[in-house]
Amino acid sequence: MSITELTTVPTTTGPTTTEHVVGRVAEIPPGEGRTFVAGGTQVAVFRLRDGSLHATQAACPHAGGPLADGLTDVDVLVCPLHQYAYRWTDGASTSGAAPLRLFPAHEVDGQVVVEVPDVP
Ligand code: FES
Repeated sequence: MSITELTTVPTTTGPTTTEHVVGRVAEIPPGEGRTFVAGGTQVAVFRLRDGSLHATQAACPHAGGPLADGLTDVDVLVCPLHQYAYRWTDGASTSGAAPLRLFPAHEVDGQVVVEVPDVP
């Protein structure tokens, strides 16, 4: 186990997942997102103004836009390329696009931890 792999989480219905430390919370200004790599998967991590962390795939499912550069509030993320919006609760698009993949994210001692499947 590397220093960035914290826990492997077995599941009964799908692939296992692993928590990865991807960076420091302080690297993400409140209300913005940054792109990180978690176990070989590019993820966009957002630090919302309510203090919560949310992680999703780095590329927009519509046409690959850089989601970390999108605008967000506590409810939705808006892609910077064509302004499709996605809900943080379930990743569903409110604009008719395919849904986002969301990944559990939380803070441990000032570090951003993201849980991704071991098989992308
Ligand atoms: S690439 Fe994201 S809305 Fe088009």
